[in-house]
Amino acid sequence: MAKIKSVYICQNCGAESPKWIGKCPACGEWNTYTEEIIRQEKSSKIVTNFLETNKQKPQLINLVEALGEKRIDTCSPEFNRVLGGGLVLGSLVLIGGEPGIGKSTLVLQIALNMAGKRILYISGEESAQQLKMRSERIGEMRSECYIVSETSLEQIFVHIKNTNPDLIIVDSIQTISTEMAESSPGSITQVRECSAALLRFAKESGIPIILIGHINKEGSIAGPKVLEHIVDTVLQFEGDRHYFYRMLRAHKNRFGSTDELAIFEMEQDGLREVSNPSELLLSQNHQGLSGVSVAATIEGVRPFLIEVQALVSTAAYGTPQRSATGFDSRRLNMLLAVLEKRAGFKLAQKDVFLNIAGGLRVNDTAIDLPVLVSVLSSSFDIAVSQGVCLTGEVGLSGEIRPVSRIEQRIAEAEKLGFTKILIPDFNFKQLNHKYTIEILRVKKIEEAFRVLFKKDK
Ligand code: TYD
Ligand code: MG
Repeated sequence: MAKIKSVYICQNCGAESPKWIGKCPACGEWNTYTEEIIRQEKSSKIVTNFLETNKQKPQLINLVEALGEKRIDTCSPEFNRVLGGGLVLGSLVLIGGEPGIGKSTLVLQIALNMAGKRILYISGEESAQQLKMRSERIGEMRSECYIVSETSLEQIFVHIKNTNPDLIIVDSIQTISTEMAESSPGSITQVRECSAALLRFAKESGIPIILIGHINKEGSIAGPKVLEHIVDTVLQFEGDRHYFYRMLRAHKNRFGSTDELAIFEMEQDGLREVSNPSELLLSQNHQGLSGVSVAATIEGVRPFLIEVQALVSTAAYGTPQRSATGFDSRRLNMLLAVLEKRAGFKLAQKDVFLNIAGGLRVNDTAIDLPVLVSVLSSSFDIAVSQGVCLTGEVGLSGEIRPVSRIEQRIAEAEKLGFTKILIPDFNFKQLNHKYTIEILRVKKIEEAFRVLFKKDK
């Protein structure tokens, strides 16, 4: 029998230690070390493997033949876009997200929809019957989709050999285990070994693999950071539980941009793609209501308009509350400080609540100006007139800083029937076109308020 050795491994960063320690010296996390058993013979095997397979010679980069990436169409325009134009052959894609957000629904829906392709869906969490029930909710099958409930990596390779699929889906990587490692499924060694084996298989065979990964309480993909290094693409599926909108965002992509964003709506019969977010997010009529403004933002290459709502009220307790949905609360605090210091509005004794429509999280900094305008609109109880939208980043000295791709933002606002748009002064110089929408330029935050609220005062 092989000699068995145990080590303690940090479940956060993968650092090893011969004995248990409370605080990881590598990443500084507490209580992350767990005992794992490893076989001694492994290290010598790796060395010989390395010597055997390393037959390639270094070559000049100019002389390397460019093959171009071959991609397969997933039959979902939104999913394709986040991937950078489809699934690259031989790539390993990791989709992470909180439990119950809809990861299994998303991948099953894609699996059923890929017309003319053979797909192998391996689930370590649900039985074939449960998957069948789910697929009945989602709709008809256009592809040749095989499902199997399996947790052993060795058996998975047998299933792959028998079905010879065009795409493999593994739900989830934390439930799969291999005989090569002795520790329990979901532990760092298992996750690392299984994903490395799957990666090798994907690269050798050219079959793309989609992995589903759990998320830990801090919001990052559970298990080691190494998992994120191994895979080609990391997608995050997120959304607010109280809303039906879900976003798929690329965090890392070897074959495309990481700015892309896909929006889905969770319905009774699966996820529906939202190809025109602006119209959906602006459906409410808020004429005469204070605390609401419309932001012209860009996520990836797509501009969209979104409603920003704020509520400012007198703090009931000593410490005022600041809460933000869909917006970084530290950035909100910073913006409120700018408002207080540079523009002289006193908000220290006020509760401030901020909400981005639909629970969507927007990363674009051009939403700063609309956030401040909504806050002030609510604070003074003066509505921003309808037909006005805003875009602009706010700097620490209260200046309105330029935003990227201003023309696209203006065009989107014009398309949706807005009559006025507030843009940073600097951006105004870049404009070449004539627009029918009235363009107001602002340099400072006070100026923006004067422009917006002066007539009503
Ligand atoms: P699921 O895909 O199981 O989430 P995950 O795999 O990320 O844990 O999604 C489960 C949720 O989705 C569940 O709360 C019910 C909801 N749902 C719908 O609203 N409509 C549907 O058609 C399906 C299949 C699920
Ligand atoms: Mg699931």
